[in-house]
Parts: sequence; structure tokens; C-alpha cells
Amino acid sequence: MLKTETLSKKHLNAVADIEAYSIICPWSYAQIKKCVGDKNFIVLTDGDIVLGYGSFYMTADEANLNNIAVKKEERGKGYSKIIMERLLALAKAQGAVAVTLEVESKNAVALNLYRSFDFKGEGERKNYYPDGDSAIIMWKRSL
Ligand SMILES: CC(C)(COP(=O)(O)OP(=O)(O)OC[C@H]1O[C@@H](n2cnc3c(N)ncnc32)[C@H](O)[C@@H]1OP(=O)(O)O)[C@@H](O)C(=O)NCCC(=O)NCCS
Repeated sequence: MLKTETLSKKHLNAVADIEAYSIICPWSYAQIKKCVGDKNFIVLTDGDIVLGYGSFYMTADEANLNNIAVKKEERGKGYSKIIMERLLALAKAQGAVAVTLEVESKNAVALNLYRSFDFKGEGERKNYYPDGDSAIIMWKRSL
């Protein structure tokens, strides 16, 4: 059964593994471990299987999305939407009125995902990533 849960120790290996192959500037195992118990770091599971995860932090009344990723073999099944819906609901419950994130300009799949949640590109940071790609700064202005 699909479930979203707060990151706990039992998820660490799977989350760090997905992070390592999915994210251009991945967090290390040690960095992810520091998030254990953070209610804003959620994991989507099916029984013992970690399907994906996402996290954000709050600054005043804004939520900043850190990351969202789905296990390679499980992509294209709508799981990131479940994670995003949960993250947005959590942020709203904590008083967020807007959500922001940065994404690689070449990451078409992520851009599609964010646009489908009504995030709009409002800025660009050139040469932001190690491969020279730009970061698109996106905002969702209403929750
Ligand atoms: C981006 C990512 C999280 C999407 O997860 P996913 O579970 O496969 O996505 P979903 O199946 O929930 O699809 C969500 C939306 O993403 C977009 N999308 C998904 N797969 C796509 C593809 N192959 N091509 C284009 N757009 C795609 C679509 O907009 C889709 O919505 P739709 O089905 O209504 O059209 C996943 O590809 C991933 O983990 N990528 C590596 C990590 C990453 O890039 N994270 C974002 C930057 S931090």
C-alpha cells in the first residue's frame, strides 16, 4: 500500500542511493541522515520499498523545495505527483503562501512536473550547475 512517511533511519540507504543517481548535486548520506525525523522530508513507500522522496524548508511564509526524486524503475507512474501534493499540503499547513525551487534548464521532465503544479519560471542563474547548465528559479505563488 502506498504511504507517505517522515524520513526515518530505515529509509536512509534507499534514499541516499536514489539521490546519488538522480540529482546533479546530490546530498551525501551524512547530509540526508541529518534530516531523519524532519517532518518536511517525506518518503513515498509501498511496504518496505522506497519509491521516492521530497523535502522542503520554510523561510517565513515561503517554502523552498530542496529535492524530489523517484526510483528509476518506478518513474512515469505518477509517484512524483503524490509526493508533490503531500509536500504542498504540508507547506500550506505550516503557513506557506508561496513555494519556490531551482531546476536545471535541461531537466525537461522536472520542468513539466513543476509546470503541471502551476510553478512558473521567474528567473535564471547562468552556469549554476557543475555541467554549466543554468538554474531556472520557479515560483508557485498561490497554494
Ligand atoms: C522528475 C521526477 C521526480 C518525476 O517523477 P515521476 O514519478 O516519474 O513523474 P510522474 O510520473 O509523477 O509524472 C509527473 C509529471 O512529470 C512529467 N513527466 C513525467 N515523465 C515524463 C517524461 N518521460 N517526459 C516528459 N515529462 C514527463 C509530466 O508532466 C508528468 O505529468 P503528466 O503525467 O500529467 O503529464 C523523476 O523523473 C526523477 O526522479 N528524476 C530525477 C530527479 C530530478 O530530476 N528531480 C527534479 C529536480 S530536484
